Amino acid sequence: MDRAQRQVIATAEMHWLASPVAGVMRKPLEREAAESGQVTSIVRYEAGTFFSAHQHPEGEEILVLSGTFEDEHGRYPAGSYFRNPPGSSHSPGSSEGCELLVKLNMFQPDDLQPVNIATTTEAWLPGLVDGLSVMPLHQYNGEQTALVRWQPGTRFSRHRHAGGEEIYVIDGVFEDEHGRYGPGSWLRSPDNSEHQPFSEQGCTIWVKTGHLTHLLRK
Ligand SMILES: [Fe+2]
Ligand SMILES: [Fe+2]
Repeated sequence: MDRAQRQVIATAEMHWLASPVAGVMRKPLEREAAESGQVTSIVRYEAGTFFSAHQHPEGEEILVLSGTFEDEHGRYPAGSYFRNPPGSSHSPGSSEGCELLVKLNMFQPDDLQPVNIATTTEAWLPGLVDGLSVMPLHQYNGEQTALVRWQPGTRFSRHRHAGGEEIYVIDGVFEDEHGRYGPGSWLRSPDNSEHQPFSEQGCTIWVKTGHLTHLLRK
């Protein structure tokens, strides 16, 4: 949880840990406490797992990585991104099973807008350099979340992360001067850190920036 430290985790190499709910396994990436507070984790629902209704006091943010997640509001196949704001509630589950990237209890208190985006059908926008495409997912008071697609051989300029940066590599290999990050890699870079990213092979990444400072102030 020390957000002043850079963290890189190859989640594909982690073991699944049991959760208090039968049929739900987890790979914790950062967490304040075992079952409460701010937590980022990869979560797997075995086929046929369903929860009773729960609330999200400080919000829930989910990217469906594989399979299909569902609740009483709909079915969300791989590539679905959604944000259940503070005050929302639902009964989630999965008939066929699924894997999710989940961030709990990290909403800014006044960010109350629900978000539900099917990234498999949403349009990509041109990025800042040739070979880069961007799909904005969410933006609020300095915090920005997007998918970014890198064509093979794309190089980005050196940049500084005001408020930090968090990346999950969905496919391909993302790179910078510190290393190579394959599918399932999770990176958290602190406020004011710098790097010069590129991708020889091409990749698709989920990126969130500007959020670490408001989380530190909590
Ligand atoms: Fe939930
Ligand atoms: Fe960056």
